Amino acid sequence: MTTSSNNSATALAHTNIALIKYWGKKNADLIIPYTGSLSLTLDQFYTKTQVSFDRQLEQDTLLINEQAVTDKSWQRVHDFLNLVRQQSGITENARVISDNHVPTAAGLASSASAFAALAAAASKASGMDLNERDLSRLARRGSGSACRSIYGGFVEWQRGSDDTDSYAVPIENPNLKDIRIVALTIETHQKPISSRQGMERSVTTSPYYPTWVKVVESDLKEIKSAISQNDFAKFGAISEFNAMRMHALTLSANPDFLYFNGMTLDAMNEVKRLRHAGVECYYTVDAGPNVKVICQTKNVDTIANTFSKILGPEKVTVAKPGPGIKYL
Ligand code: DP6
Repeated sequence: MTTSSNNSATALAHTNIALIKYWGKKNADLIIPYTGSLSLTLDQFYTKTQVSFDRQLEQDTLLINEQAVTDKSWQRVHDFLNLVRQQSGITENARVISDNHVPTAAGLASSASAFAALAAAASKASGMDLNERDLSRLARRGSGSACRSIYGGFVEWQRGSDDTDSYAVPIENPNLKDIRIVALTIETHQKPISSRQGMERSVTTSPYYPTWVKVVESDLKEIKSAISQNDFAKFGAISEFNAMRMHALTLSANPDFLYFNGMTLDAMNEVKRLRHAGVECYYTVDAGPNVKVICQTKNVDTIANTFSKILGPEKVTVAKPGPGIKYL
């Protein structure tokens, strides 16, 4: 531990796409989920963040893609830095400079890569030398899904029951390796109901929430066995079911809400049409209208070309499994 000033570190984290979704907190303050979840870290979309603790600074400052940020995002980063100061004993304010490398309007969530990169850079700059498990625990406090972006490839967030045992672990030696994600940008607007608000409303008002908790247990078991048996059909089917079960929690909430729009439904139907025509693929959707198509290398060109014709090539991004956290 150190309290010297002007300590600086830079880290890079990739975003991840959940195949078994995290949707609901048992403890909102510590971000302890009701269920485990499982994701794939992607190679295409990442955040690079530099944190410098500096005693000259009168307050924390935040620059995202060269724009000074002072709104709610600043508050969230400031609260997170307070946690790092509390853990490390450092007292200085910090300068945070962050760049999101998400292809223009890919419509992918950035909070996972953002808080993973921030956790790594801030903890290192503060003088803490955290192992990956503790880094995952720290990133979780910024945004739940960020705890999974510490690792590359397939990652499971083990729900745990308190701050010490809720963290992500990599799925070692997965036999399912040949996987591609075709990300379709349907809309780039800020979602009207954030995932944070949406999951909270689902937990407190959907009568199906207790069933979700049970179902995720078995979906997690099944998907892990599909990954270890290299069973792509099973893997894709469980991913698709699990996403739809999550969205059923939004439809059954009070007041109900929906992340899909008409084009989301069209894209889902197109995936089914392709599948029935022998081009094996599945879909997943997060807290927004964008669709991610899950496929294997042999079909990726057909799928990308099909959606390029429908949406325009700039709305279609092909991703592969990506790496874990890196310090620069
Ligand atoms: C639908 O991690 O953004 O993408 O913990 O409140 O920051 P907070 O939520 P966040 O939620 C992600 C929700 C999801 C599913 C997932 O990534 O598992």
